[in-house]
Amino acid sequence: MDALLTDAIAAARLARGIHLYYQEKGFAVDTKSGPTDLVTHADKETEIAIKDYLLSRYPDHAFLGEEGGQEREAEYRWIVDPIDGTVNFAHRFPFYAVSIALEVRGELELGVVLDSSRDELFWARRGQGAFLNGRPIEVSRTDQLIGSLLATGFPYDVKKDRENLIYFERVLEKGLTVRRPGAAALDLCYVAAGRLDGFWEVKLKPWDVAGALVVLREAGAVVTGLEGEEYQLGNRYIVASNGLIHEELLATIRGRG
Ligand code: IPD
Ligand code: CA
Ligand code: CA
Repeated sequence: MDALLTDAIAAARLARGIHLYYQEKGFAVDTKSGPTDLVTHADKETEIAIKDYLLSRYPDHAFLGEEGGQEREAEYRWIVDPIDGTVNFAHRFPFYAVSIALEVRGELELGVVLDSSRDELFWARRGQGAFLNGRPIEVSRTDQLIGSLLATGFPYDVKKDRENLIYFERVLEKGLTVRRPGAAALDLCYVAAGRLDGFWEVKLKPWDVAGALVVLREAGAVVTGLEGEEYQLGNRYIVASNGLIHEELLATIRGRG
């Protein structure tokens, strides 16, 4: 493993330590855009710790974090979600993670997602495969939507932007099995590990997706927008699957299936 990946993993482990400390000790909860959009003291402290750790080693790199925004422009940019699944974290529902990605000249190079509760570390480096706790992972081989296990998520302003409620209903109406675990970075890594066959969401942000995207690509997943076009960081729609059910999933979401 090279230094960049080792340091990304070390930063994720540092983050996990902070998560576990605050789960034990307790934390203050605040709201952001609305009553269900939460942020805790742990989100902010975790992001500062990751940023200090990485920028002390790589002072010329740029840093984009959910809580603090973007620090400078550079060819190398870290993209970080200090706690993905904050609502779960705040309720002590043990499904949340730290996500760290490194983008080099606009291309995602490595991704690390660490599930703090289970101590499950997903990581991938471009061209070198995807791993879960050191073992290679790949997507599932389910080739029909019926019998697939799917997941999705909803933005905090779902009442204003109801689009995914329509997609959710279409998928449920077909009698398909869908979960809403609440941490997109982990949901996506579960597709990479073959635990889920497919996932979709609307309005995810770059820090929700960046780390898992490298893991997905390296595990053989197909990741697109709603029309089947290749997913780019920042796109409104993301549909990730094992590839075999992709067309069927897209058609169902779009109401053409
Ligand atoms: C959220 C989670 C959730 C997804 C939301 C995200 P956060 O991130 O990934 O699963 O449905 O759209 O905003 O706020 O917990 O970092
Ligand atoms: Ca997130
Ligand atoms: Ca977050």
